[in-house]
Amino acid sequence: MDNKVFYLTTPIYYVNDVPHIGNAYPTMVADIVARFHKLLGEKVLFVTGTDENATKVAEAAEAEGLPTQEFVDRIAPAFEKVWKDLNVQYDDFIRTTEPRHIKVVQEVFRRLRDKGDIYKGTYEGWYCVPDETFFRESEITDGLCPNPECRRPVRWVQEENYYFRLSAYQDRLLEWIEANSDALRPEFRKNEVIRFIKQGLQDMSISRANRGWGIPVPDDPDNVIYVWFDALINYLTVTGWPDDEEKYKKVWPPDVQLTGKEIFVRFHCTLWPAMLMGLGLELPKQLFGHGFWSIEGEKISKSKGNAISPAKVASDLAEQSGASRDVAVDALRYFMVREVPFGQDADYSWAGLVGRFNSDLANDLGNLLNRTLSMIKSYFGGVIPEPTGTAEELKSAVESTANEVQSAFNNLEFSRGLELIWSIIGAANKYIDEQAPWRLMKEGKQQEAGTVLYSTCEVARAVAVMISPVMPSVAREMWKQLGNPGDFESINWNDSLKWGLLPSGKAIAGPQPIFPRIEEKPKKEEKPKKEEEPEKAKVETEQLISYDEFKKLDIRIAEIKSAERVKGADKLLQLVVDDGEGERTVVAGIALWYEPESLVGRKVVLLANLQPAKIRGVQSNGMLLAADIEGRAIILKPDEDVPAGSKVR
Ligand code: MSP
Repeated sequence: MDNKVFYLTTPIYYVNDVPHIGNAYPTMVADIVARFHKLLGEKVLFVTGTDENATKVAEAAEAEGLPTQEFVDRIAPAFEKVWKDLNVQYDDFIRTTEPRHIKVVQEVFRRLRDKGDIYKGTYEGWYCVPDETFFRESEITDGLCPNPECRRPVRWVQEENYYFRLSAYQDRLLEWIEANSDALRPEFRKNEVIRFIKQGLQDMSISRANRGWGIPVPDDPDNVIYVWFDALINYLTVTGWPDDEEKYKKVWPPDVQLTGKEIFVRFHCTLWPAMLMGLGLELPKQLFGHGFWSIEGEKISKSKGNAISPAKVASDLAEQSGASRDVAVDALRYFMVREVPFGQDADYSWAGLVGRFNSDLANDLGNLLNRTLSMIKSYFGGVIPEPTGTAEELKSAVESTANEVQSAFNNLEFSRGLELIWSIIGAANKYIDEQAPWRLMKEGKQQEAGTVLYSTCEVARAVAVMISPVMPSVAREMWKQLGNPGDFESINWNDSLKWGLLPSGKAIAGPQPIFPRIEEKPKKEEKPKKEEEPEKAKVETEQLISYDEFKKLDIRIAEIKSAERVKGADKLLQLVVDDGEGERTVVAGIALWYEPESLVGRKVVLLANLQPAKIRGVQSNGMLLAADIEGRAIILKPDEDVPAGSKVR
């Protein structure tokens, strides 16, 4: 259907605690998916919310000494704040204590009871309160919950309950999975679902004795509806079913439903589709079971005290880098989808986050924008130059990669999509190095230099469009620095990714680094190990230096803090570098090939204990190491981002 709304859901959250970096994940990812589909020009309904009728929510309220309703009313807004802080823009927020939801849950219950899918019986079994789940006898060992993420004691529960006739759906579920190869993803979790269903499905108890919290069973208020049965129905409530037929028709079925791996198999891929089959409704197009985040190799848990909030991570990143908070939030969003293919487990560490920030964001993306804009400022008075030709290699890289990125994002392969975008950034940085606009300017080829810089601006513009679902604030800032080439609010994947849309002749402001690098202190020098005596070389020693002589060289990584031309010397730049211990001035003969502004922030290799020398009146304290290619100097840089002061051995 043409005007089908792209309908996307996250699990709804238990309101016993606000989200940490792990459980904020599905909602951050969903925001990326929603923004991507909006960018494709689709209408989107992106829904998240809170799961409030659980026993554990009532217990958390009791522990706080608050009436449950008051407790949930207090916590639910905290979720909305967390999402706002993470720049998550959902279209609807559902709370399962809302009247609109209670009405739909009772309607579903009634319909399924009327058709015989729900019946009354006595239930006895093992129940895990934190997971709100009944388990089979065979699944329990040592009286503990079999969910490896939980492993807390289970309780023996005996009650007269309503049952959902899940067993009747076993074959139909398997047929559905078989016939819809993309319905359950990733593939390895789909296989888990098939194994689970093939073990045999039992009817499921879907009510509890009413202890004052939960949605009452219609016409039998002594019982409340089991929280999972109630919670899954939220996906239906927000569509307006069954009253708002017009809305429901536009929205249903869900296009993508994201869920964590522990609630994927038995709830989202078994109970939920069986309920929909019972109601005679279409099944979701895709259910995706994502992996879990750990922190520095440890499971995230409140008792370990490592349940760090995403807001805190973003504030720390902003504080330590000097980037804006919005940019720091974007960097966290980027990190979380770039780190591992979506679906797999991942590990968070501060060092990992800073590594991505410094290398992918500051060195690659930030550098592309900064050096391009600073050269436009120096050579073209801050006005975007008119290109006289087309940088074909960049144009075709952008156009073909944009298609691949689109299909990767469509397929929820975020890390692959971002890798592809970064390959274009790398190509553009390499293009600048090879075309060397500073040399073209020296040679009087201003038009050629203009074409180079126009082209790299065009790449930056295309990159801003493509990264906007993941890093909306960064994209907006790049857009602004590129002189607002069109209305940012109306950017669109199909139209905005055509080459050459950047207007020339527009004045831009000077570049403002979006990602100031974070300096990690160099690790304390380890005590030098006793060097083994080198074997006496048997070769001619005249041209060789001894190991002791080599050891005298103090070669280390330094960061360029500022760079300017040495007056009256075409080839010389005067650099201030941070060598890990302090700042020093070094004169380098690289002015023909490097634009001073483009060097600031770069890590270089410095010979630190060279005797000082005066060059054109400036004292140089050390030497920058560079490769010599037919007289052209190409400065060396470390393969990975390492702190200033690191020794080169
Ligand atoms: N209320 C149920 C879902 C009902 S959906 C109809 C629930 N809530 S939850 O608050 O416990 O979890 C919300 C989401 O966070 C789930 O998708 C869960 O998988 C996810 N995560 C919880 N811890 C996580 C990590 N450490 N890492 C990644 N996701 C995590 O379950």
